[in-house]
Amino acid sequence: MIKISRGCCGEEELKEVKEAFEYGYFGLAYKTNEFESEVKKYLDTDRSVIATSTGTDALHLALESIGVGAGDEVIMPSFTFVATAQAVRMCGATPVFCEIDPVHFLISIEDVKRKITEKTKAIIPVHYAGRPCDMDALLKIKDETGIRIVEDAAHAFGTYYKGRKIGSFGDITCFSFDSIKVMTCGEGGAIVTNDADFEDLSRKKRLLGIDRKTMHEKDWKKRSWLYDVPTLGFRYHMSNINAAIGLAQIKKVDAFIKRRREICKLYDESLADVKGVTTMPGGYDDITPFMYVVRVHDGKRNQLKEFLMQCDIESGISYIPCHHFSGFHDDKNNLPVTDDVFEEILCLPIHYEIKDSDVEEVCKRIKEYLNS
Ligand SMILES: Cc1ncc(COP(=O)(O)O)c(C=O)c1O
Repeated sequence: MIKISRGCCGEEELKEVKEAFEYGYFGLAYKTNEFESEVKKYLDTDRSVIATSTGTDALHLALESIGVGAGDEVIMPSFTFVATAQAVRMCGATPVFCEIDPVHFLISIEDVKRKITEKTKAIIPVHYAGRPCDMDALLKIKDETGIRIVEDAAHAFGTYYKGRKIGSFGDITCFSFDSIKVMTCGEGGAIVTNDADFEDLSRKKRLLGIDRKTMHEKDWKKRSWLYDVPTLGFRYHMSNINAAIGLAQIKKVDAFIKRRREICKLYDESLADVKGVTTMPGGYDDITPFMYVVRVHDGKRNQLKEFLMQCDIESGISYIPCHHFSGFHDDKNNLPVTDDVFEEILCLPIHYEIKDSDVEEVCKRIKEYLNS
């Protein structure tokens, strides 16, 4: 079976995890702090990094910490993993679904502007498949209106926007390090910001609202037993064990990204002249390609997916738009570009360990099906 994705961990991760085991406390501890420092270094920023248990938690925590609540609206693309929409719902707010552009499937700035109301508290751009949204336009909206920009950068750790890494600028950026992301902590996430008040509040909210400045000290003697609980909080910290995995992975992430770029180029070359599929333009030199997505025309997507499965090739459809789900459906949603994209997209296998010959096999099978 050629798998669509898989995590890649080895001896280095085991060594770090062993140390975490030997330390004897597996919750929020020193490796979580070290991981936060390494993320800062990687992003080349002095912004604050707050490591969380998942990317979903990072989004929820970010929205909660900027005060999103009942009666508020948050504009976001429908074309994303449902985690984005659920994070909005967890705050009691309403996700307002907007369109994407038909080429890279990124948030449509025109549609965002149309959907802003007095209730709009935040906008969540999703850097789909690792490609950055139009951050200049979004940050301009923030400057003009005060609406916060909470980036869903689950796919975009290592992606550059105009020479700067996503997370090293902007308002609030949320990453995911779940098991199939380009870099994993097993499960994990992180929020990056330069907003000091936000950082202070979100660190408390991450751990049940607890305010205890000395609690992450490696040396137990330096920890105080006394703490206050000034606010509502959650159980969203990254564990020492997950951070241990992340500490080993972050050393490898550039190699992971390099290999993914090579795989994308191989697919592009092989599928360039194939009638019936369109590859995404734009190149990969500045991005972390999290997925390799093509459009399959003439209503053949589902059958091609089935055919590939019969050839032991896994493929995916990321994503079913949120407004298609019964729990999020609303007759007011009119998103024709999103609906068209959903009918045609197919995500092909991509991960660090995939071989060139696997990519060739996938492309051979696609051609075989479309030419038959
Ligand atoms: C676009 C997007 N947002 C948010 C998430 C949530 O991240 P996590 O799985 O770490 O909770 C994901 C995970 O797949 C995602 O793809």
